[in-house]
Amino acid sequence: MSRWTAAQLEAIGERNKNLLVAAAAGAGKTSVLVERIMQRITDPDDPLELDQLLVVTFTNAAASQMRQRIGAALTARLCAHPGAKTRRQLLLLNMASINTLHASCLDLVRSHHYRLGLDPSFRVAGEDEAALVRENILDELLEKRYDEGDPLFLALSDDYGGEKGDASLAELVLRLWDFARSHPDPAAWLDGATAAFAAPVAGLDDLVWSGSIREAVRLAVETAHQLVTQALEGAGAPGGPAVYAPVLARDLDMTGDLRRWLDGPWESLREAFGKVVWARLPACREKDEGMVARVRGLRERAKEILKEVRERFMAREPGEILTDLRKLAPFVGRLTALVREFDSAYQEVKLARGLVDFGDLEHFALRLLTGPGGDPSPLALALRERYAEGLVDEYQDINPVQETILCMVSRGDNLFLVGDVKQSIYRFRLAEPCLFLEKYRRFPSGPGGGERRIHLTENFRSRP
Ligand SMILES: Nc1ncnc2c1ncn2[C@@H]1O[C@H](COP(=O)(O)OP(=O)(O)OP(=O)(O)O)[C@@H](O)[C@H]1O
Ligand SMILES: [Mg+2]
Repeated sequence: MSRWTAAQLEAIGERNKNLLVAAAAGAGKTSVLVERIMQRITDPDDPLELDQLLVVTFTNAAASQMRQRIGAALTARLCAHPGAKTRRQLLLLNMASINTLHASCLDLVRSHHYRLGLDPSFRVAGEDEAALVRENILDELLEKRYDEGDPLFLALSDDYGGEKGDASLAELVLRLWDFARSHPDPAAWLDGATAAFAAPVAGLDDLVWSGSIREAVRLAVETAHQLVTQALEGAGAPGGPAVYAPVLARDLDMTGDLRRWLDGPWESLREAFGKVVWARLPACREKDEGMVARVRGLRERAKEILKEVRERFMAREPGEILTDLRKLAPFVGRLTALVREFDSAYQEVKLARGLVDFGDLEHFALRLLTGPGGDPSPLALALRERYAEGLVDEYQDINPVQETILCMVSRGDNLFLVGDVKQSIYRFRLAEPCLFLEKYRRFPSGPGGGERRIHLTENFRSRP
């Protein structure tokens, strides 16, 4: 890249700490990650080998694209500065750990299957195949419980079966099962969910997950505020659309107002969101079209982000949500029991067929990496030695099991995490602790200390 932005350069050059790089789509997150890798392996003073890096993606396509991008950067460097060191990194490329987390887990599980009591001939079921097996098992289970006439179960299936028959109850069970499995200790998570509903809920602010929703809202509001601040700066810059400044100043007051309500009661925050109105920008005759487009783009992104939050979290009256939750409470115990019954039936079938699904790979890997008392196992400690740094692209997609795996193999000051702000709000699901948001809040933005957050706000993809 001929001109990295100041924030990008900081993200590329910062060392010896856990770093969270937050940005929107097209802000150059993956480019920054690749450049950081390049700089680490070509560092004149302290060069790393490519296979000392653990690079994690969430899809096979992203992994092979990452490999390609690193390969292209290495080839370009080799042309410009031929040398044995760069050539060796190119040779290491195919062996380097640039994979989906599932692929890395599979490697671990294959090499250590005997420790897990796993028959080495196990086969990994594809997502579709596993989903089909699950559906069949669940259908059978629901049928059986229905025939038994358990009154709580019948009430539950009445409420959730609706016109679609058992389909939506089955969906609910599978969703809960999926949530539970995405945690390091699924059984404990189910216990926690049951207990959370057993306690009477006075208001929305008391709910266990209201904290996580607030984090999502906080991130959105802070991001929108920053974007509008930058738009206003752009309007005042030479060649910028100065006529936009008064409207942008009012926008900034408005996002500032929202910020003030972030720690207030939910009702007030929701009311403040209800007052968000974006005035029209006046006609602009300035010559520098690029500047005008940039300022408008920043403001549009702020608008989009706040709209997303309003639609996702504030569409329903708090009273309505509370009524629904209270109606659900008596059934939650039965529901979580159903999830457990389903899980053990599914485990049995997988065992009989020698199947392992993606979730199993994560849980098996975690078991291998965890020693007694939850400390890292000798295997985890060996991996901590092997990997000088762990780099994760699309970090907003990580689940708690994967996060725990990552923590087991990292030293506590060597993770480089890049994630998409908007996606983290959009994908946020109730009751799922949002790891991205939690770090975003916790990591300070300034240098110094063992953790840092860097925000990339320029968007390069939509540039003219
Ligand atoms: N400083 C810069 N100057 C000019 N172009 C840049 C800069 N940084 C990144 N780009 C370009 O912006 C485009 C998007 O970059 P990249 O794919 O790294 O973004 P991303 O944030 O990872 O996007 P996504 O959210 O889709 O994964 C690429 O074409 C990249 O070359
Ligand atoms: Mg990317």
